[in-house]
Amino acid sequence: MTPHPRPRLTDTPAWQALAEHRARLADVPLTKLFDGDAERFRQFSAEACGILLDYSKQHITAETMTLLFDLAQQQDVAGWRARMFAGERINRSEDRPVLHVALRNRSNRSIAIDGRDVMPGVNGMLAKMHRFVDAVRFGTWTGYTGRQMRDVVHIGIGGSHLGPQMVVEALRPYHHTDLQVRFVANVDGTDLAETLGWLDPETTLFIIASKTFTTMETMANAGSARTWFLDEGGPESAIGKHFVAITSARGAAEDFGIDADNLFEVWDWVGGRFSLWSAMGLPVALAVGMDHFERMLAGAHAMDEHFRTARPEHNMPLIMGLIGVWNVNFRQAAIHAVLPYDQYLAHLPAHLQQLEMESNGKSVDRNGRPIDHATCPIIFGQPGTNGQHAFHQLLHQGPTPVPADFLVPVQSHNPLLCDAGWHHDLLLAHCLAQAEALMRGHGAGAIAAERRAEGAAADDDDPAVRHRVCPGNRPSSTLLFRMLDPYTLGALVALYEHKVFVQGVLWEINSFDQWGVELGKRLAGPILRTLAETDPDAPPVRDHDASTNGLIAWIRAHKGNA
Ligand code: F6P
Repeated sequence: MTPHPRPRLTDTPAWQALAEHRARLADVPLTKLFDGDAERFRQFSAEACGILLDYSKQHITAETMTLLFDLAQQQDVAGWRARMFAGERINRSEDRPVLHVALRNRSNRSIAIDGRDVMPGVNGMLAKMHRFVDAVRFGTWTGYTGRQMRDVVHIGIGGSHLGPQMVVEALRPYHHTDLQVRFVANVDGTDLAETLGWLDPETTLFIIASKTFTTMETMANAGSARTWFLDEGGPESAIGKHFVAITSARGAAEDFGIDADNLFEVWDWVGGRFSLWSAMGLPVALAVGMDHFERMLAGAHAMDEHFRTARPEHNMPLIMGLIGVWNVNFRQAAIHAVLPYDQYLAHLPAHLQQLEMESNGKSVDRNGRPIDHATCPIIFGQPGTNGQHAFHQLLHQGPTPVPADFLVPVQSHNPLLCDAGWHHDLLLAHCLAQAEALMRGHGAGAIAAERRAEGAAADDDDPAVRHRVCPGNRPSSTLLFRMLDPYTLGALVALYEHKVFVQGVLWEINSFDQWGVELGKRLAGPILRTLAETDPDAPPVRDHDASTNGLIAWIRAHKGNA
């Protein structure tokens, strides 16, 4: 007897209750939810690990939150959370556990996979990283001419690049001044060439970062880096001193010429986009030192414990996850802006694009059944205040509201004073003003009155007034923290990781595989072979659609003009 398939999520009681609630709330403007409610900020804010989450500018009421918590209950978020922390194989399509929380488990309590505690391995890897990092940073690890390393080139892509790069940039105030850490990801030769052009092979250390050690971009860049090293005079015998690897694929790395001692393992229960806490964080530790790296782990662990134990109404990852679902599925917001008002977080949106969109950009459920609701929104963003001069026009006056996360430290690493005051006060003021403007808007009546006060004849229907109207009613959350330090950064990234986890559970999808990236890789092979054809009289390609065939023909006709 085939078991009854689960009812579709959109037919479940909690989902239906939220849909009815949304209809009742539809015409209530955000400003009205604030009017006369002095307690709104206190009621809809939460604090943990030194981070304040203000979600009072979201289009929610107490009833909304109650119904959202009912959805979390119905979807068994707590049960799935327990399964993740217990090392169960919740990544069903790859039959793997999801245990990035073990990488930063500073309590060192046992976390087992199939009855085997993973913590001895985690601690052993951290110790190995510590030894290596100290050797490189303090000069006992030298190159083939006996000189100390001065440059590290981390070669990786996706989760083997974005997280480490984001953290290295975010923690620049904590960098060791004598060691420059650079990143190469793109197979576009420009990325590697522009990086190597400035380097000395005698003092350059390459990290080849690839869980599979098969990713085309990384393998191409690793091979070309090796060629550069040899062509620049580095002896073959010194490959072991100038190349180390971070991988799950020991054999492939040794075939490349990596010494077994210089292999840093990443286990298969660590997803690529969740791997910066593992040996994949080696460039971070080289840049800021192992102590700061471990402080970052501590911050993430604190957020793990908060997520694992906090009651729903105080649970920040749960609240952020639920509000994201409310905006996507009940307010039809298909886009989400991440606006870090901190230049050191310039790479955070790019990291969150992979973390969120590669995790939850899915359209079948855990059992491969097509779903009939939206999932992950398009994530984009850049640091404030820059975005205010790029795309905030659309956020304020575009046809559809784009929910936003504003993130800003209260204190700066670089306190500068100008005629207008402290730079950081200017940054803070603009951050808060943008969130207020999105929520409050600027109506025609107020604009017309302002123009009349300035002596211009104006009424609500004047075009000059209409062009200036900001509809408002645009939701956002604001995250405040004292300063961007390793601990806070760890907590912040873990917060988003668990938000993504919550949303995957709510949507009943597998957040931990990424089958969608395989097709493009497979189609590139035959195209690569046709592009490699140099015979000008070779017959035209007809193996693809007319567009691809036409594009290949044009490329072939113009390749010689480089
Ligand atoms: O983008 C697909 C992907 O598999 C990511 O999930 C992963 O982080 C990236 O490619 C790099 O994979 P690897 O670490 O195996 O080179």
